[in-house]
Amino acid sequence: MDGNGRWAKQKGYVRAIGHENGAESVREAVESCAELGIANLTLYAFSTENWNRPKLEVQLLMKLLVKSLKKEIKTLQDNNIKLQAIGNLEDLPKTAKKELLEVIDKTKNNNKMTLTLALSYGSREEIISVIKALSDKVKNNIISVESIDESIINGHLYTHNLPDVDLLIRTSGEQRISNFLLWQIAYAELYFTNILWPDFKREHLYDALINYQNRERRFGKTSEQLSK
Ligand code: IPE
Ligand code: MG
Repeated sequence: MDGNGRWAKQKGYVRAIGHENGAESVREAVESCAELGIANLTLYAFSTENWNRPKLEVQLLMKLLVKSLKKEIKTLQDNNIKLQAIGNLEDLPKTAKKELLEVIDKTKNNNKMTLTLALSYGSREEIISVIKALSDKVKNNIISVESIDESIINGHLYTHNLPDVDLLIRTSGEQRISNFLLWQIAYAELYFTNILWPDFKREHLYDALINYQNRERRFGKTSEQLSK
């Protein structure tokens, strides 16, 4: 969800206004995905690298997180959406963590869609945590080196209960991954749009989905093999 700052700048506002308007786009994206029957939506809300932003902006983003969680719990319940979070949640300010865990708990029995917020998330850090956990299990003879395969690695990622990514959308014209779900996007379709996140509305999501539907996902096979 990129482009909040540039959106604000273009309009002559402070960055905070961009983030607030970005939160509106979040609601629209979540509701639209639930409506379409998309089972999993993961939003990259705050990266491990985002902690390096000016202190005031970080504080504002954390406040906005708390405000949005309080406000959108109703949206989640009304749409039968379960909230979960991936990332280094220990790094979040106490109030943000508390609010987050509360909403996760309140929505834990919802089952139409799983909304995953990546918060203080970094894919390299996630992969390091997997390597540490597996090394520990090998050291303690819980698993053998030979048994390590893709499914064991999947099972140790923060995203262990999610399937591989099908479609990754990045807004604002940047064409990079920025440390997001590196393992999980091995065969994802990538979609880049120049729309800034606060302007990303239902119709833009539909554009991305229609584009995705028209792609041929070959997973290394030939086109002919797929049509058999
Ligand atoms: C995305 O918008 C929001 C977060 C990363 C939290 P940016 O804040 O990155 O907006 P730009 O890139 O400065 O336009
Ligand atoms: Mg940005």
